Amino acid sequence: MNLETDYLGLKLAHPILPGASPLVDKLDRVRRLEDAGAPAIVMHSLFEEQIEFDQNARHYHRDRHEESFGEATSYFPDDDEFALGPDEYLKQIERIRDAVSVPVIGSLNGVRLGGWVDYANMIQKAGAAALELNMYFLPTDPSESAGDIERRMLEIVRAVKGNIDIPLAVKLSPFFSSLPHFVQELEVIGVDGIILFNRFYQPDIDINSLEVTPSLELSHSSELRQRLRWLAILFGQTKATLIASGGVHKTQDVIKAIMAGAGGVQVVSSLLKFGPEHLQTLIKGFTSWMEQREYDSLQRLRGSMSLHRAPNPEALERANYLRMLQVWRT
Ligand SMILES: Cc1cc2nc3c(=O)[nH]c(=O)nc-3n(C[C@H](O)[C@H](O)[C@H](O)COP(=O)(O)O)c2cc1C
Repeated sequence: MNLETDYLGLKLAHPILPGASPLVDKLDRVRRLEDAGAPAIVMHSLFEEQIEFDQNARHYHRDRHEESFGEATSYFPDDDEFALGPDEYLKQIERIRDAVSVPVIGSLNGVRLGGWVDYANMIQKAGAAALELNMYFLPTDPSESAGDIERRMLEIVRAVKGNIDIPLAVKLSPFFSSLPHFVQELEVIGVDGIILFNRFYQPDIDINSLEVTPSLELSHSSELRQRLRWLAILFGQTKATLIASGGVHKTQDVIKAIMAGAGGVQVVSSLLKFGPEHLQTLIKGFTSWMEQREYDSLQRLRGSMSLHRAPNPEALERANYLRMLQVWRT
């Protein structure tokens, strides 16, 4: 059976990858991921803020935010709180490349165009086979329109793409008025993959201490549904590899994501919970499911439950919504 997938133009033995996470900070864990069958290793992100700090430009953030909000500088972690500084990050790519035989994928994370995009090229030079770009951003300024934000994002993608020859994947948030249109714009720039989605960390409020408590909770399988919806819509609309990230915990989650149209799935929370070896459980489970159902290749499964062949996906989604509300009974 052929589980091979075209992932951003890289030929991977199968589509189940560890996603960006701190698992890559230690070489022994990276080796465990490879032993568990990881077909590639995705680095955690190197952040715009971290790079700018490192270039002795602390005033960059201070000046930028102090004008509007005096406390803002204290929000950012100190540079020693990041697991790896920019130079260490590049060295870690080299170390991982030497330690494993699978491709290493770098990750950059930023939201304002600046010198940090030059790191795309440095990550390539350090030996990364591809790059992820994560533009985690929450709009809070009412004067900035959706169009302004999208233009800014496209400008960043263009700058990063212009710096590299290796494939580029963009990790998106689910919050777009028209995700299909934005994906089309990314494709025009030459983006090779779309990662659906960034996971937004929701703060809570402690009603006793009157403090906002940032909490990083690991995901649940239920979060996959949002990914399934958009994979199903985007499959067939773009040549870029669609990659699911968020809520892949069990073998059936992998199967659903591929059926919806994913060319690859990334796993983080369940590896953090159960260890790198959980990847092997997912790979084995997926392989045996494919054998039992007599699928001879991934391509036959991929997109089989997408909306690609639906004559009017928009009407179908609307009809499903109406039906669901109408048939509900107490
Ligand atoms: C502790 C932790 C660190 C993460 N670090 C990064 C990161 O550096 N860059 C990034 O793009 N995503 C990062 N993520 C997000 C994951 O790559 C992934 O998109 C998200 O956790 C959803 O997948 P999951 O449901 O399998 O956890 C991180 C997630 C966790 C839990």
